[in-house]
Amino acid sequence: MLHNTLFFVVGLLALTGSIEALGQKKCISFSSASGSLALAKSGNVLPIYADNADWPGVLRAAGDLSADFKRVTGKAAKTQWLNGTSISGAKQAIIVGTVGRSKLIDNLVAAKKLDVTDIKGKWESFKIQLVQRPFPGVDTAFVIAGSDKRGSIYGVYDISEQIGVSPWYWWADVPARRQNSIYALNTVCQQGEPDIKYRGIFLNDEQPALTDWVYEKWNTTVFGSGFYVTVFELLLRLKANYLWPTMWNSQFNADDPKNQFLADEYGIVMSTSHQEPMMRSTPEWNAKPRGAWDYSKNNATIYQYWVEGAQRAKPYESYYVMGMRGNGDEPMSEEQNIALLEKIVADQRDIIAKTYNTTDISTVPQSWCLYKEVQGYYENGMRVPDDVTLLWADDNWGNIRRLPSKEEAKRKGGAGVYYHFDYVGDPRSYKWHNTNSIPKIWQQMDLAYEREARQIWVVNVGDLKPMEIPIDFFMSMAWDVKRWGKDKLHEWHLLWAEREFGAKYAKDIARLVEDYTRYTARRKHELLNVPVFSLVSYNEAQRTQEEWHTLSALSNKIYRQLSSDAKPAYFQLVHHPIEASRVVHDLHIKAQQSVLYAEQGRNTANALRGEVEDLFQEDAKLTKQYHSLLGGKWNHMMSQTHIGYVYWQQPMRQQLPQTGEVQLEEVGLPAPIVVTFEDAFGVAPGDNRNNIHGFNQFAFSTLDRYGAPTKYAEVSSMSNKQITWNAYSNSSYVKLSKTSGRLGKNSDSARVDIIVDWAKAPKGLSAATLWFNSTAYGMTGQVTVPIRNEVVPSDFKGHIEGAGVVAIEAEHWSRNKKAGSAAWEVIPGYGRTLSGVSPFPSVTDAPYTAAQGPSLEYDIYLFTLPANKSISVIPYWGTGLNQNPGRPMKYAVAVDNEDPQVIQIVPNTKPGDVPPDWQPSVRDSVRYTRTNHTLSAVGKHTVKIWAVEPAVVLERVVVNVGGLKNSYLGPPESVRV
Ligand SMILES: *[C@@H]1O[C@H](CO)[C@@H](O)[C@H](O)[C@H]1NC(C)=O
Ligand SMILES: *[C@@H]1O[C@H](CO)[C@@H](O)[C@H](O)[C@H]1NC(C)=O
Ligand SMILES: *[C@@H]1O[C@H](CO)[C@@H](O)[C@H](O)[C@H]1NC(C)=O
Repeated sequence: MLHNTLFFVVGLLALTGSIEALGQKKCISFSSASGSLALAKSGNVLPIYADNADWPGVLRAAGDLSADFKRVTGKAAKTQWLNGTSISGAKQAIIVGTVGRSKLIDNLVAAKKLDVTDIKGKWESFKIQLVQRPFPGVDTAFVIAGSDKRGSIYGVYDISEQIGVSPWYWWADVPARRQNSIYALNTVCQQGEPDIKYRGIFLNDEQPALTDWVYEKWNTTVFGSGFYVTVFELLLRLKANYLWPTMWNSQFNADDPKNQFLADEYGIVMSTSHQEPMMRSTPEWNAKPRGAWDYSKNNATIYQYWVEGAQRAKPYESYYVMGMRGNGDEPMSEEQNIALLEKIVADQRDIIAKTYNTTDISTVPQSWCLYKEVQGYYENGMRVPDDVTLLWADDNWGNIRRLPSKEEAKRKGGAGVYYHFDYVGDPRSYKWHNTNSIPKIWQQMDLAYEREARQIWVVNVGDLKPMEIPIDFFMSMAWDVKRWGKDKLHEWHLLWAEREFGAKYAKDIARLVEDYTRYTARRKHELLNVPVFSLVSYNEAQRTQEEWHTLSALSNKIYRQLSSDAKPAYFQLVHHPIEASRVVHDLHIKAQQSVLYAEQGRNTANALRGEVEDLFQEDAKLTKQYHSLLGGKWNHMMSQTHIGYVYWQQPMRQQLPQTGEVQLEEVGLPAPIVVTFEDAFGVAPGDNRNNIHGFNQFAFSTLDRYGAPTKYAEVSSMSNKQITWNAYSNSSYVKLSKTSGRLGKNSDSARVDIIVDWAKAPKGLSAATLWFNSTAYGMTGQVTVPIRNEVVPSDFKGHIEGAGVVAIEAEHWSRNKKAGSAAWEVIPGYGRTLSGVSPFPSVTDAPYTAAQGPSLEYDIYLFTLPANKSISVIPYWGTGLNQNPGRPMKYAVAVDNEDPQVIQIVPNTKPGDVPPDWQPSVRDSVRYTRTNHTLSAVGKHTVKIWAVEPAVVLERVVVNVGGLKNSYLGPPESVRV
């Protein structure tokens, strides 16, 4: 039975205190139930039996289960590997085995005590249940039966997870929760086949963090089997089966002769990165003088090199990478053409046929990765044999560039996706912290599944840490796509938090993870070095800081309350990402403010500069704290530089960003105080390049009942002495939150809110004049504030224009109209602000004709129109690409009863390239389109957006009637009635 609602899951967990393998059916409880079997009770743990002829990897995993019982109960299970058809000497037992490999299991099947017909012959499936009177003299057995090697292994680890051992018990130090008793429920737990056949990770860009950590921890200069077995075990516990090893400075198959052997024994299918063919690594080639890596000049050497790779891999389960790229993950030279590449693939297949001594080489898995320019070769006509898997790639920024067409989906080798959580390259490397939001991963990978890219999902995870959470989700989804629909993403976070930290904090921790990844996904840390969040409009910088401080406060509260054994895991998985991100956001915003304030002449610049220096130290302290956890277990893991980027490549050392400083010993020229206003970079008094003209002149934006009911001014000192100031308003309905104050030499600005009494303000446009004086010097600043007081008709429902814009979160539609069974549906948590809305089904046979597809309608109320009566409608879209050949991403739009305009969201792209607007779109994590519409009058209007193509994701709609200001996320949502 699947848990259909969240409340049910939480309720059940609260009752029994048990844990489920994340989101899957539960067959373990910590209290007895009708017909249950005690696996552990009163210091006794049932023995585990298996057939000694079963896969060594199955026996090894069964040994882990024994150790996991010890982690939970303090006592390990005895293990016995038998060579017989029954067990004796125990009334109750745990039996682990593979159908066709375990005489114990096969005997139960033959005796009709265990029915395996629904898993037999299947890929990676398992069935877990109680069997009564399994063998003479035995009362009950708890049987874990696998359809194949990994089926059994996953069954074993599913039970490990259910008894309370997280897949991350070692890799993130999640503590097992102690239990005195463990019961097997009288039910059947069955899983498999997985939805994606090969599911794995790519360890990449492993310097400095992973490399330095491995070298120190294993006292070595290679990535050896001591390290790799920890990865294999983690992958298997996550029900993954596939790995691309580190490749920049390592040779998986040569560095440690046990690597390849142990991968196979554990049950991991090894492959190589997309650009390393024939089970050999690039450093292996470079290790000896072998001539050019160029098949047109050096084919004999390269051929033989590949023969050796195939011979070495033959005993083990491997997935061959076919084709060839230039040395060092670069394109091959210009003159090397498609014909040559086809010849290369033919020769590689010839090698496989000879090595495996077979005429049907489709039994040896092969893939061809269509990464960057290689996709261009495909688009230009290059083909590989039908049984080779086409591995489509994303743009390195989590946007899949291409998915199979209907025809391509029929290929025998199937299709896969190579995805990224971490990247080194343009427009900026991002390899420090986790910036991957799960709803975005869901949207892209669900689309991949629907478009039948189901053979391989492999994701570049950088150093592995700190990508624990997105890796876990990626594997959950690859195992059971349908379990994790878009409406289950919050549930996934809750169950994850509950598994790792218990029910008490699950709700808060899930929220922390969902929020922090939304905030980090909207702008990579490495791209915060230039002003991103507006320092003057929409309070954007301040709101960003507040968001981080809110998360930080909650995270600190939980961190203090958690038991000491849970703290290291919480620090790694939740607290450090939040604290470190808070610091980096604060640091950059404050640095940018100090530069601006120094230009404005404000003493405040210096105080901010000091805070930036403190934050720079706090960042280092957090890194150190991570490195000193658990006696230094994760030393080096956070050593990735992340402050001081100036181009795509990481800075070679952490560098303090530019800050501003004024000379505090001297007074500013125009006056001892200076006044600045919201929305303006200018100052009063003084000549500033942002003032319109003259001493005191800058545009003050309108205070508006709906869009901007209050604004602020800031009074700052430009003096080397303590000074007092006062301020007043000439209007009976405009009040100031503060009318006088004192500013010291090193401090301070005073923020003064300008508050309108909207009930008293005249209807329509009016103005107030504000004065700001420094007591000793007389008047220093005077400003006129326009005020607009409009009232929307009481029968209007929708979003109300304020300050010249209407901003709408896409899910706050007035009407959502279906077209047949197609409809726009919410992807909760998607994107930069609230959610995304996307047309489903995500695969359609043809585009919808304009104005025939499902539509969203937004009612808006406008009080003003620009002189030319032209407004613009600006939808904010997710960054998904034109992945469907011949069907670029499009929508249609109209205001009121206009003819719809059909707009292409993502421009056309040269084969193998990214679209021309790609860099800004991935930097900003958003794509904008814009259409102009001429209206005849103010009042009520309706913005209509139709689906033309599926897989577009709408986040917000902004209507600009002339007041839109620069900002990163756009104006806050308008008032909705
Ligand atoms: C199991 O027992 C059979 C029969 O005695 C024997 O032939 C076989 O070699 C044994 N296998 C193992 C793995 O011990
Ligand atoms: C590390 O390895 C080196 C070289 O094998 C050896 O000399 C040294 O004693 C080792 N250090 C530790 C701490 O094991
Ligand atoms: C290398 O290329 C040459 C010229 O095309 C060909 O004669 C030769 O058989 C090739 N050698 C191998 C090992 O493929």
